[in-house]
Amino acid sequence: MCGIVGYVGRNSDGTAQAVIMEGLARLEYRGYDSAGVALVSGEHVEIRKKSGKLSNLRSEIESDPLPPSTAGIGHTRWATHGGPTDANAHPHRGGADGKLALIHNGIIENFHALRTELGAGGVTFTSETDTEVAAHLLAAAYEDHGDLTEAMRAVVVRLEGAYTLLAIHADHPDVVVGARRNSPLVVGLGEEANYLGSDVAAFIGYTRQALELAQDQIVTITAEGVTVINVDGSPAQGRAYEVTWDAAAAEKGGYQTFMEKEINDQPHAVRDTLLGRTDADGRLVLDELRISEASFTGIDRITIVACGTAAYAGMVAKYAIEHWTRIPVEVALAHEFRYCDPIVNERTLVLSISQSGETMDTLMAVKHARDLGALTISVCNTHGSTIPRESDAVLYTHAGPEIAVASTKAFVAQITACYILGLYLAQLRGGSFADDAQSVMKDLGEVPAKIETLLGRMDRVKEIAGFMADTRAVLFLGRHVGYPIALEGALKLKELAYIHAEGFAAGELKHGPIALIEPGQPVFVIVPSPTSEHGLHGKVVSNIQEIRARGARTLVIAEEGDEAVAPFADEVIEVPATAPLLAPLLTVVPLQVFALWLSTAKGLDVDQPRNLAKSVTVE
Ligand code: F6R
Repeated sequence: MCGIVGYVGRNSDGTAQAVIMEGLARLEYRGYDSAGVALVSGEHVEIRKKSGKLSNLRSEIESDPLPPSTAGIGHTRWATHGGPTDANAHPHRGGADGKLALIHNGIIENFHALRTELGAGGVTFTSETDTEVAAHLLAAAYEDHGDLTEAMRAVVVRLEGAYTLLAIHADHPDVVVGARRNSPLVVGLGEEANYLGSDVAAFIGYTRQALELAQDQIVTITAEGVTVINVDGSPAQGRAYEVTWDAAAAEKGGYQTFMEKEINDQPHAVRDTLLGRTDADGRLVLDELRISEASFTGIDRITIVACGTAAYAGMVAKYAIEHWTRIPVEVALAHEFRYCDPIVNERTLVLSISQSGETMDTLMAVKHARDLGALTISVCNTHGSTIPRESDAVLYTHAGPEIAVASTKAFVAQITACYILGLYLAQLRGGSFADDAQSVMKDLGEVPAKIETLLGRMDRVKEIAGFMADTRAVLFLGRHVGYPIALEGALKLKELAYIHAEGFAAGELKHGPIALIEPGQPVFVIVPSPTSEHGLHGKVVSNIQEIRARGARTLVIAEEGDEAVAPFADEVIEVPATAPLLAPLLTVVPLQVFALWLSTAKGLDVDQPRNLAKSVTVE
């Protein structure tokens, strides 16, 4: 939420502006309520900012060009304090002389008290933001210290809440100072230039060498170097790493939208997540976790914490992990977890799932779990992000950068990673499923090719979506692992096409929701494989008949060759056969494709749906 870029280079030319604008374009998925840039130029700091998407800022700069510069900062906003107006857009100036500019991601919780204090001291505010408070505090601290880094240190100890702050000052055309607490900030290491960004996408066009910062650190970049200190002033060092993907991975690669590209990336996302996690005999090897086998064998309960799509991945994983390990698994929405007095102790594994690794709700749940003594493992897609840092161990998904706001490839990668972990636990614990782990891994290995086959058959789904632009509501039904997929299908449609959509456990229908069925009501039904246990397939086929009898238009996702569904389906969308527990990796695909093309048919912005932002870094 909110994208942040900082740059310092040696030459005073148009590079600073170009780097910052490119960084903002790559970070726009983090928020698109407004955008702004500030550059140091001569005795001044020049600011351009505009509400709305980045294109508005581009037009503004075209009509009122920025001067050449060596250093600057840029921001793309998801509004919290104050509406998405020009005045509330970042950067904000601080001090009576306006020589300082600051940008911010997060929420300063004690801003009201600080604003009152500053107001009493004669400061007048030009925006409703909490950010402007930090800008004025920093300007005042700079007056006292004459040094931007020291001023930042003095200010951050006064702030409560979560923040990343970046600041420039007209007196220092060769410096950008940043600080972070519970909010993302990474450093890009260039040649004769250095960078700051909310994530590496900000500078991936220039360098793949990055530096991860810890909590409560302050970083000062110049063209020549990077200095990191702790808030108490003691020297610190970031952790250097190389970004494993390049700028092309963060581009659309010939597709119309990032979402379309990312849906099509899914075979790679699953394949790459499986890579390197088994030995020559097919046994799972997770040395990367650096957790002793003994710590795992003591686990008697697993709690998965996550939000949104990641939580649905957790719900899918619950069925599989319980089945393979016989350890009870609970899935908690991360933002509820802390407040429900969770039963968590040293024998609990708290598994967080997060694409961004920055979701504040999930981060806070992880911290709470650690305080309670749990073993914490994070399934995460983003190197250098906060949640893995705050966890005992991390199992990375290798989905590559996910830019579209709606999560797709991260979802299948998350399920894959959770399955790897579940099978690893089964292997460690022994018992009947330990022997099965290798054969499940073999089945998982075949999934990428099956997703590819499925993606090649999506024309009819696209066509159906195209006809349904006027649809007012869509229902989704599933059972067992199909239930979270129904929830995910509904979420995709809500967020992308702004259509009322609900997912239900199919068995729940007769307990109330069936009253929603009226003639013509579209209902997607995710049908389990005919090979599923406990006669599940037959039960879902009966559910289809029940809604069809009441006039529903049934859009049925079923395993290829499943002839039982055809008589009751208005449309059958066939997915390749796989083991029942692996089916979610396939059945979700038509639902993603449907949401993508329905949103497109309605003329909406697929990659940047209204009111949303990727990476929700506020609670
Ligand atoms: C929906 C979506 C969100 C995220 C959720 C968690 O398409 O993208 O529901 O899944 O905000 O985000 P991460 O995985 O970054 O923690």
